[in-house]
Amino acid sequence: EWTPDNIADMRIAQLKEQIGDKQVLLGLSGGVDSSVVAALLHKAIGDQLTCVFVDNGLLRLHEGDQVMQVFAENMGVKVVRVDAEERFLTALAGESDPEKKRKIIGKTFIDVFADSARQVSEQSDGKVVEFLAQGTIYPDVIESAKSHQGKAHVIKSHHNVGGLPDDLAFELVEPLRDLFKDEVRKLGSTLGLPEKMIYRHPFPGPGLGVRILGEVKKEYADVLRLADAIFMQELERSGWYDKTAQAFAVFQPIKSVGVVGDGRRYAWVIALRAVETVDFMTARFAHLPYDLIETVSNRIMNEIAEVSRVTYDVSSKPPATIEWE
Ligand code: XMP
Repeated sequence: EWTPDNIADMRIAQLKEQIGDKQVLLGLSGGVDSSVVAALLHKAIGDQLTCVFVDNGLLRLHEGDQVMQVFAENMGVKVVRVDAEERFLTALAGESDPEKKRKIIGKTFIDVFADSARQVSEQSDGKVVEFLAQGTIYPDVIESAKSHQGKAHVIKSHHNVGGLPDDLAFELVEPLRDLFKDEVRKLGSTLGLPEKMIYRHPFPGPGLGVRILGEVKKEYADVLRLADAIFMQELERSGWYDKTAQAFAVFQPIKSVGVVGDGRRYAWVIALRAVETVDFMTARFAHLPYDLIETVSNRIMNEIAEVSRVTYDVSSKPPATIEWE
């Protein structure tokens, strides 16, 4: 019988059998899928697992610290945190085309990951890393089989570390390959991952890179992180976080006039985006209560001096996409 409990036990036994006493490397993003893989592998092989967490400077507020806290501090998983903010921002400088930005982020991710993979291999007491674990789930498998041209493939190659250089030849470990998202969530819960981690909204591989329109700058990312954190706090406080499938703030590099006290302010515009969807292929903009939108908007304009105006995105998918880029 299929229950999360015996699925967990079975997978752990299979992983032990497959891996033996070899070393495994996992790219940890903090999302549900890679987190569940980390928890499974940690139970199966303990110290033979090393996770690499790449901070690309395009993460949400305190996201890196939270991932370290859950995995390294609470669960005792070996996690190497790579601070690659500068490398990503330098690679992105001057580029404003959405698809080119995605490609740059994907390529930089693979480069950074490959560098740390080599380092981890060198440092594991002469034991060569032979396995690379990925949080591929069943819908990823179907989508990449369906289309090697379309976005599905792009998503996969960001999300999961495809395209590693030839000198890093790993055997893949994909323990979630035949599971759907809800099954992965149940499994995560059985393995003792915090609910907050299991029921998080999805966060795209390119991160804030696709939520800062046009050229990415650290200054923009810093403003966006603050605005997004306020939106998330108020969604959680009002109970709307769980009623929306995905919600976030978007940075618009245009300036608008505002008034603060006796002064005039000429500052950036933030858009709020919240959607209801089951499959993310189509989506309706969430009908958030006006009072909630008002609280969020006031807080953002009052607490962030660099923002003078907030808008709410009322576009559904199709024809709009969920992300703005
Ligand atoms: P769109 O914007 O296409 O998004 O309506 C649908 C879902 O996919 C996520 N998304 C991505 N995830 N890499 C990812 O890992 C990407 O390049 C990417 N683009 C969009 C988006 O957040 C939404 O959940």
